[in-house]
Amino acid sequence: MDLKLIVLEGDGIGPEVTREAVRVLRTVANVYGHRFDITEHLIGGAAIKQCDSPLPTNTLDACLAADAVFLGAVGAPEFDGLPAHKRPEAGLLLLRQALGDYANLRPAISYDVISAASPLRPEIAAGADILIVRELLGGLYFGEPRGVVTDNGQATASNTMRYSVAEIERVARVAFAAAARRRKKVTSVDKANVLETSQLWRQTVTRVAKEFPEVTLDHLYVDACAMHLITTPKRFDVILTENLFGDILSDEAAVITGSLGMLGSASIGGNVGLFEPVHGSAPDIAGKGIANPFGAIASAALLLRYAGGLEQEAEVVEEAIRSVLKAGFRTPDINYGAGGSLAGTSEIGKLVADAVTEIADRRHAYHAV
Ligand code: NAD
Ligand code: IPM
Ligand code: MN
Repeated sequence: MDLKLIVLEGDGIGPEVTREAVRVLRTVANVYGHRFDITEHLIGGAAIKQCDSPLPTNTLDACLAADAVFLGAVGAPEFDGLPAHKRPEAGLLLLRQALGDYANLRPAISYDVISAASPLRPEIAAGADILIVRELLGGLYFGEPRGVVTDNGQATASNTMRYSVAEIERVARVAFAAAARRRKKVTSVDKANVLETSQLWRQTVTRVAKEFPEVTLDHLYVDACAMHLITTPKRFDVILTENLFGDILSDEAAVITGSLGMLGSASIGGNVGLFEPVHGSAPDIAGKGIANPFGAIASAALLLRYAGGLEQEAEVVEEAIRSVLKAGFRTPDINYGAGGSLAGTSEIGKLVADAVTEIADRRHAYHAV
């Protein structure tokens, strides 16, 4: 398999975790005889500094012509004062929109061996396995009109939450199809007791559910969902929700797993998929070599699955993640209480890459018998 990949390291810990995900991808290519043609480009704060734009034209053109895009993270405190459309984050939002990826899959899996890293009691967190399907191109993030008007010296800012039936239907189908391959349950999350967009969301999701009779559907208001997620995470299979609610609930779901650094994501639905960890650039730990790369590596597994159709390779990477955790290696963010061996970002990356080679060899030997 030949894959043309664009890698956007971005800012803060972006480059640190991306390097480890790329290491794992290169290992997969070697072991399975694939050719991954990997080219790096600038995005976010790094691109603002060099090209005065958070998404330079050559970056966008390269992404549009690729088989998949891998992104680390964008954002840095030095740009926090800029208007929204000039910030590093604007580069990521423009890229998602240009690629057309309207469905953002964010799996949150609690591994038993690190369940002590979660502030939740292990009997609540351990074994939780949730897929958040976040609508990625609508809602408050992209709705027009938006902006700031100043009248008589008084500023008023506005954003618009807007959804069409078509936008809701397409992401709902992704969620139901995913649930059909899992535990067959979708929980749709909205604020239909207050918002018209949510009422349309609920009606539309209920109608789409009829196309998937094997999947059960229930609805929760977002405030109650935030509570149930922490008290009974195991009641959830697939959570389907709009853009901003999904952004917030996915960081909350990360707490169940032990750390925001554990979560990977796949943005799909457009012509080119975008794969990125759920966390940001973590300026508070950047440059220290301690960032958790498991979320970035999990995103690489999702790239293999969704962009390459390489299911076996994706599963081997996921098994490698589990085996390194089982062997006790932990970055500081997941090292609470469990008595593991502290490891840095690149050490974890090397261990996962080695585990990929080992697991693939074992599978190969098994098939050869
Ligand atoms: P953040 O996700 O960067 O960090 C939140 C907290 O989690 C921090 O304490 C951080 O140290 C910790 N953390 C995050 N990832 C970690 C990892 N891999 N290993 C260990 N600890 C980790 O969120 P923030 O601090 O609110 O935002 C920082 C910047 O990142 C902002 O500019 C924000 O806009 C941006 N951001 C970017 C993305 C993205 O590129 N996809 C996502 C979220 C935030
Ligand atoms: C995420 C991030 C982004 C979002 C920001 C950086 C634009 O928080 O991917 O979760 O809000 O979608
Ligand atoms: Mn977020």
